[in-house]
Amino acid sequence: MKLIILGPPGSGKGTVSERLAQDFHLFHISVGDLLRKEAKKKNALGKKISSYIDKGNLVPYQLAANIAKKAIGTKRDYLFDGFPRSLEQAQEIENLKFDLALYLDVPEKEVVDRLSGRLLDPATGKTYHRKYLPPPKNIMWRLVQRKDDTPKVIKERFKVYHQETELVIKYYQKKGILAKIDGTGSPKEVYRRVKKAVKNSR
Ligand code: AP5
Ligand code: MG
Repeated sequence: MKLIILGPPGSGKGTVSERLAQDFHLFHISVGDLLRKEAKKKNALGKKISSYIDKGNLVPYQLAANIAKKAIGTKRDYLFDGFPRSLEQAQEIENLKFDLALYLDVPEKEVVDRLSGRLLDPATGKTYHRKYLPPPKNIMWRLVQRKDDTPKVIKERFKVYHQETELVIKYYQKKGILAKIDGTGSPKEVYRRVKKAVKNSR
């Protein structure tokens, strides 16, 4: 099975992907996570990537596409989280024949609240939220916030989402493989809807 998960910044793509990957034995490919890992290396490529991510802009399309395709390796069942994000990227992977594109629909106001309380665990890669998905108290000390979760950068990420990624949603809708999911409510509720959509598509 090959899945794509789309949605605005902070809509819960990563949170849902963690569970989907477990339950359906899918290899989780978060292009955002891969890019941040590359950026940490602080070499020329890393610095270039940071210069886009830190402003909330998309990295050049070919760079993201190469990272995404390379991550697949020999895997046959995988889940793309946050990729494709532009029509060019969608066309680039057209030959991979995805079964389903899940679109998490969450109003902008709610998403800003989610991003401002997000906490990441660098040790496990897990995502938490101060209020909605509280982490265990004993790991609180090692949790970090994402550099692009500032009001100014969040605003830019939304702008890019409206300009580029909404077209991708329409693209998969036309192809007849889009499942629009109500992404509001608790993480548990959202995941229940997602799981149902995935099961129905098989
Ligand atoms: P990326 O890392 O993909 O960021 P994003 O799309 O902005 O989305 P996020 O990861 O911020 O949010 P999410 O939807 O995963 O939500 P999460 O589950 O964490 O991309 C970052 C950057 O990388 C881009 O800006 C770009 O520069 C670059 N990039 C990435 N892909 C690219 C591409 N294809 N091409 C070019 N450039 C690319 O949840 C958010 C918070 O809410 C968490 O705290 C979580 O605990 C909480 N939460 C989750 N679900 C719920 C719920 N139901 N109720 C309440 N809280 C919830
Ligand atoms: Mg994410």
